[in-house]
Amino acid sequence: MAHRKHHDRLEELRQLNAEAEAGGGAERREREHKQGKLSARERVDLLLDEGSFEELDKFVRHHSHDFGMETQRPPGDGFITGYGRIGGRLVYVFAQDFTVFGGSLSEANASKITKIMDLAMRAGAPVIGLNDSGGARIQEGVKSLAGYAEIFLRNTLSSGVIPQISAIMGPCAGGAVYSPAITDFIFMTRDTSYMFVTGPDVIKTVTHEEVTKQELGGAMTHNATSGVAHFISRDDAECLAMIRELFSYLPSNNLDDPPRKPSSDPWDRITPSLNALVPENPQQPYDIKDVIHALADDAEFFEVHEHYAKNIVVGFARFDGRSVGIVANQPAFLAGVLDINASVKGARFVRFCDAFNIPLITFEDVPGFLPGTQQEFGGIIRHGAKLLFAFAEATVPKITVITRKAYGGAYCVMASKHIRTDINFAWPTAEIAVMGPEGAVNIVYKREIDRAPESERETLRQEKIADFRERFANPFVAAEQGYIDAVIEPAHTRAKLITALRSLENKRDTNPRKKHGNIPL
Ligand code: HXC
Repeated sequence: MAHRKHHDRLEELRQLNAEAEAGGGAERREREHKQGKLSARERVDLLLDEGSFEELDKFVRHHSHDFGMETQRPPGDGFITGYGRIGGRLVYVFAQDFTVFGGSLSEANASKITKIMDLAMRAGAPVIGLNDSGGARIQEGVKSLAGYAEIFLRNTLSSGVIPQISAIMGPCAGGAVYSPAITDFIFMTRDTSYMFVTGPDVIKTVTHEEVTKQELGGAMTHNATSGVAHFISRDDAECLAMIRELFSYLPSNNLDDPPRKPSSDPWDRITPSLNALVPENPQQPYDIKDVIHALADDAEFFEVHEHYAKNIVVGFARFDGRSVGIVANQPAFLAGVLDINASVKGARFVRFCDAFNIPLITFEDVPGFLPGTQQEFGGIIRHGAKLLFAFAEATVPKITVITRKAYGGAYCVMASKHIRTDINFAWPTAEIAVMGPEGAVNIVYKREIDRAPESERETLRQEKIADFRERFANPFVAAEQGYIDAVIEPAHTRAKLITALRSLENKRDTNPRKKHGNIPL
């Protein structure tokens, strides 16, 4: 008899497992597949090392009795939560299953998410959320809103303690967007995902604008225009592979160091191409990514926010196997000028690296801040200050290489010596001054030039510019002051960077005790 009872229980367990794994059923899953989407379980399996997923709360059901919900109580309630491994390292994960009540958030499945968020904090491991949801479960009303707010609170408290990564792989609308928004990185799948606070129908009613879901909140909109998302992928599989790659650069929590990945790339490899990279003509652009690729281990650079504010380039690379965060002005786009979007993009990345012990390498070629009413009215003062604040408060190892222009306030902001950068290099092509030679001459020699006979004015101006360039547009004046630690041959930059990183391996620096700073938001 006892034996029979055990057998029944085993059978019941298997049935429950099968029921939970079936989600919203084959038909709904097929509908998702047809759109090019994987199922929530397929996603979790692809994200994690094979066979490593341990599911929790697979049998949790909702407690709703309204709108006939009491007759539909699938085990798991449409969310898959648990933990597993990426590259052998622990991560916590949740995935919303659109086939069950549209992946909507209930009181019950919100508790599943907060449970793994709490476990992740205690274990010091990242949380990765795979979002695909119609938002708050309409039948549950305010209980669902409470669930969201519980998640938002944990997102906020976890910020800077464990990395939080969001993938948007379907709808993500209304207040639901604010959980991913607080996390560190947002991935979006092309064509199958969208995010917005209010959708096209509401917008049409309120502002009479007509816009499609994709135009309003598709992957490219958020990658290139709003800057809400950091990465775009062709499809689900690519998105999950990119998350795995990103994690390879990150530590598991704020007390850990990032993992090291040994490389056969010689630490002292010479890069002769860099000696000739910077054009003679200071107005001529070059691609700063050529510099990054030439210097990094195995030419690998994992770019973040590739399509947004292209005048600044940010992302992860390795030097001598160590993860570093790269921040680089991009002379090939808007001459590498700092504007509102570039400042905010740079600041957010710098703060992430600082929170997670990832050293910063800054490549600088910046003509200054972008002039114009649009920028001033938009608050370039406040936004530019974010980048300055972020660099100044960062206590991770900081190294700067000035490749060409370092003018004005932008010189101070871009990890200058004066804001606690540890090692500041300059290439011989560096021009470090208050402003470019043309601008400087127009101000300093205005009277003298105006007094000259008109026919001689242009010649005089050009002479003064040449003289100014000769005297000030170089790295040696700053090196004389000790603001530049060493003027280096570009070909030797890799060895110089790695030696500097090694010297800073045990760097200790702190900020004054305080509750928190007041970054100009
Ligand atoms: C309960 C939902 C649901 C929801 C979808 N479903 N959203 N069930 N609560 N929020 C169910 C549908 O009833 C349907 O069930 C199934 O999921 C698939 O939905 P479809 O509409 O058939 O899918 P599709 O045509 O792809 O459209 C997807 C969608 C649409 C655009 C997301 O479902 C939609 O507009 N849903 C409502 C979105 C919304 O307004 N949510 C509340 C937002 S406010 P069956 O059984 O037919 O398969 C919010 C606030 C968060 O989220 C607050 C945080 C502070």
